[in-house]
Amino acid sequence: MLPETLICLLNAALIQAASVQLSLNTVISLNAQTLPSPPTFSVPAAQDLTITVAFCSTGTSLPRFFVTNSSSVDDPGPDGGQDVFEISVDEGLGTFTGIFSDGGVLAVDADSSTSFIFEIGASDNGPLHEVLATFPLFGDSTSNQALLFSPPFDPPELVQPSYPNYTLPGPSLSPPSPPQSSPNFTIVIAPTSSQNLTSLPQTACMISNQSSSGNIANESLWLRDEEGWRTQWIIEGLSPQTNYTAYVVEGNQKLSGPMYFITKSAVFSCPLAAFLPYCPGVTYAVPLPSPQNSDILMYDSTNIPSSISDTLASYFTNFTTTLTTQACGRDYYSPLQTCADCQRSYFRWLCSVSFPRCGEASPSSSSSTTPSIVSSTSDSPTPTSALQPQSTSSSPRNAAFPTLNTPYEVLLPCIETCQAADRACPNFLGFACPLARFNANESYGVGYIDGAEPDKEGLGVPGSAQDRWGNVWCNLV
Ligand SMILES: *[C@@H]1O[C@H](CO)[C@@H](O)[C@H](O)[C@H]1NC(C)=O
Ligand SMILES: *[C@@H]1O[C@H](CO)[C@@H](O)[C@H](O)[C@H]1NC(C)=O
Ligand SMILES: *[C@@H]1O[C@H](CO)[C@@H](O)[C@H](O)[C@H]1NC(C)=O
Ligand SMILES: *[C@@H]1O[C@H](CO)[C@@H](O)[C@H](O)[C@H]1NC(C)=O
Ligand SMILES: *[C@@H]1O[C@H](CO)[C@@H](O)[C@H](O)[C@H]1NC(C)=O
Ligand SMILES: *[C@@H]1O[C@H](CO)[C@@H](O)[C@H](O)[C@H]1NC(C)=O
Ligand SMILES: *[C@@H]1O[C@H](CO)[C@@H](O)[C@H](O)[C@H]1NC(C)=O
Ligand SMILES: *[C@@H]1O[C@H](CO)[C@@H](O)[C@H](O)[C@H]1NC(C)=O
Ligand SMILES: *[C@@H]1O[C@H](CO)[C@@H](O)[C@H](O)[C@H]1NC(C)=O
Repeated sequence: MLPETLICLLNAALIQAASVQLSLNTVISLNAQTLPSPPTFSVPAAQDLTITVAFCSTGTSLPRFFVTNSSSVDDPGPDGGQDVFEISVDEGLGTFTGIFSDGGVLAVDADSSTSFIFEIGASDNGPLHEVLATFPLFGDSTSNQALLFSPPFDPPELVQPSYPNYTLPGPSLSPPSPPQSSPNFTIVIAPTSSQNLTSLPQTACMISNQSSSGNIANESLWLRDEEGWRTQWIIEGLSPQTNYTAYVVEGNQKLSGPMYFITKSAVFSCPLAAFLPYCPGVTYAVPLPSPQNSDILMYDSTNIPSSISDTLASYFTNFTTTLTTQACGRDYYSPLQTCADCQRSYFRWLCSVSFPRCGEASPSSSSSTTPSIVSSTSDSPTPTSALQPQSTSSSPRNAAFPTLNTPYEVLLPCIETCQAADRACPNFLGFACPLARFNANESYGVGYIDGAEPDKEGLGVPGSAQDRWGNVWCNLV
């Protein structure tokens, strides 16, 4: 039996054998050719430690990772042993969570004859490397531009005014000021057919090191909806009618995607509109002539025709005036909804009908790539988007829009936008939506989100306004 002090000394010596210390909440980047000898790392002590490994290279001989939290194992390896675990790596990412009360050792088993870059991180606060559950969001595209968003962060606090000073905001003329700090997002785009990003390790270091198509014409923070702030990118220089794959990298370790989108055909003539503070969800192509004198070929609050913005502002103001003839905040017309909710959903609906959205049918994709979201409802046919052709003689739904002298197709607003306003507003306003069994489908996209009949709520095909495969079924601002 050895004296206790000697055991402690021996343990210390064993932990010393691990040549490099992993520090808590930092990532180290390593190359298989230049690993320390022995290729072991001491793991910091933590009750709930997450160790992640991420491949930043591709190759045939992939490194393996073994970890132990036992102080009696100094070189964990494939032979196993008590409290020896292998970190299994899937699509380039490995995550291991365990109790490391006294720290531990991580060993890398790699082929040192070729270069292979990877990262290791240890954290007591969730994984440092991960594939995020939220996807980037597709705004819209033209033949050579795309408007894309990062996943959201910092959702806004909705203001609920109170009686007797029940003040509702007017139409916003300037956007709210962005949060002080924001995640560092970068975007990577590549044509889906020629540069297969999905076959690479699905890690931030791998994807962010790939060349990206197009060029970023504008990058800014935008509060598009209640989900929160997003980084908004306007990308230029893309090719027409091309399916692109997009990823967003957050920081240097977190990956969001893949998301797909397709650019429009070369004849598509509607320009993009965005940066409209009173309609923050209008981030799509609108039926207006090509804008003059703008750096980026698009409409924003500086060049949108004032006939459109002034009419909208007048509707906003008049609606708010009528709504507040109700004793908002004192007399409740609903146990669930308030005047502020009504105003928000009405504004949203008004934006969706005031800014028609141009669309185009996708080039029919080779059948087998039917979006998986659709095949889950096997008895329903694949939906087609709510597109409505407009000839040069059709009068635009919003009279403030000029008649375009080329035919185009409008992607109708999702009827749920109308129903939300109908539900949120007091009856005396007389707000009503057309019924699916009559002619609702002439002015709205019906049945995509909630199902076409009232008792079929939640049974819509495909269940959303758009999906991450690049399909957009109806317009949701
Ligand atoms: C090592 O991990 C095992 C399994 O998670 C756990 O039961 C054990 O308590 C850990 N030992 C130490 C010293 O943290
Ligand atoms: C009523 O509320 C608004 C907005 O919150 C505020 O600007 C205004 O000063 C308040 N007026 C009174 C009389 O409290
Ligand atoms: C954001 O990431 C880019 C690219 O990785 C880097 O150059 C830049 O310094 C980062 N900015 C901040 C504020 O971390
Ligand atoms: C890309 O690679 C993945 C995995 O190797 C494969 O499943 C997929 O079919 C490929 N896609 C294309 C468009 O080549
Ligand atoms: C990124 O790519 C460049 C060349 O394309 C390469 O030299 C570098 O090692 C790569 N970095 C990583 C982390 O793979
Ligand atoms: C992006 O466009 C908006 C609106 O036109 C403008 O306010 C902002 O300064 C632009 N940002 C950059 C980085 O060009
Ligand atoms: C708003 O109300 C004013 C005054 O009643 C009226 O002149 C104007 O036409 C209304 N605006 C709209 C868009 O109906
Ligand atoms: C609307 O739906 C009816 C059947 O419910 C169908 O006959 C009609 O063609 C549809 N109209 C449009 C514009 O899609
Ligand atoms: C784009 O390509 C992906 C991958 O092949 C496919 O799943 C998706 O359906 C395509 N998108 C469209 C709109 O065709």
